[in-house]
Amino acid sequence: ALLDSKPKPLSGKKVIVTSGPTHEPIDPVRYIANRSSGKQGHALAAALARLGADVRLVSGPVTIADPAGVKTVHVESAREMRDAVEQLLPADAAVFVAAVADWRTDNAAGEKIKKVAGEGAPTLKMVENPDILAGVGHHARRPFLVVGFAAETQDVLKNAQAKLAKKGADFIVANDVSHEGGVMGGDRNRVRIVSKGGVDEWPDLSKEEVATRLAALIAERLKTITV
Ligand code: CTP
Ligand code: CA
Repeated sequence: ALLDSKPKPLSGKKVIVTSGPTHEPIDPVRYIANRSSGKQGHALAAALARLGADVRLVSGPVTIADPAGVKTVHVESAREMRDAVEQLLPADAAVFVAAVADWRTDNAAGEKIKKVAGEGAPTLKMVENPDILAGVGHHARRPFLVVGFAAETQDVLKNAQAKLAKKGADFIVANDVSHEGGVMGGDRNRVRIVSKGGVDEWPDLSKEEVATRLAALIAERLKTITV
């Protein structure tokens, strides 16, 4: 009990984290997805909880377990993720690690789409999904700290800087997802922290180490609030 009595840096702070992919239905049995495993987002949620935060994880469909000490909400589609995040506001910080599908099918079929001889393959009409991070970054109840991730395969810094402004984020954790057997699904991550103040390059680290460092950075930023 004595060991537990040390105050933790994020005690009393509510932090929303999104993680994993989203699934966008085509019909009751088919969906569009991506390679996100949820490892980085879930590791971050756990790291924030270790620092004492009241962490609310909104997770897309993943095969990994809910992190210890974290209240987890499970969703499937981008629109479900957006609704879950908005219901959790207000919060002190929100971190958007999820690989949200940029598009969904315009009209998911209510019944399984059948092959019909001679009719060929169906054409899927796609429409854009809501940008959850941008919505929160410009929200009336915007958290004090808003953090995004940027998955890029080229012009990593330039694209991350553009996203920072467009989405109303305080900083963007940029990673290069181009290499084979790389970040998506893997255990390691090499990130750059992009903010108005400049760029901080971190070395190649495990996703656990990235999570621990990011949680510490978030705690540092939240310390500057005076209530
Ligand atoms: N994001 C989000 N909602 C979306 C799309 C993205 O909340 N519909 C968030 C991601 O969780 C991430 C950040 O926005 O924190 C950047 O996502 P990314 O896919 O890199 O950027 P996009 O703006 O979608 O642009 P693009 O995919 O074309 O690079
Ligand atoms: Ca995207």
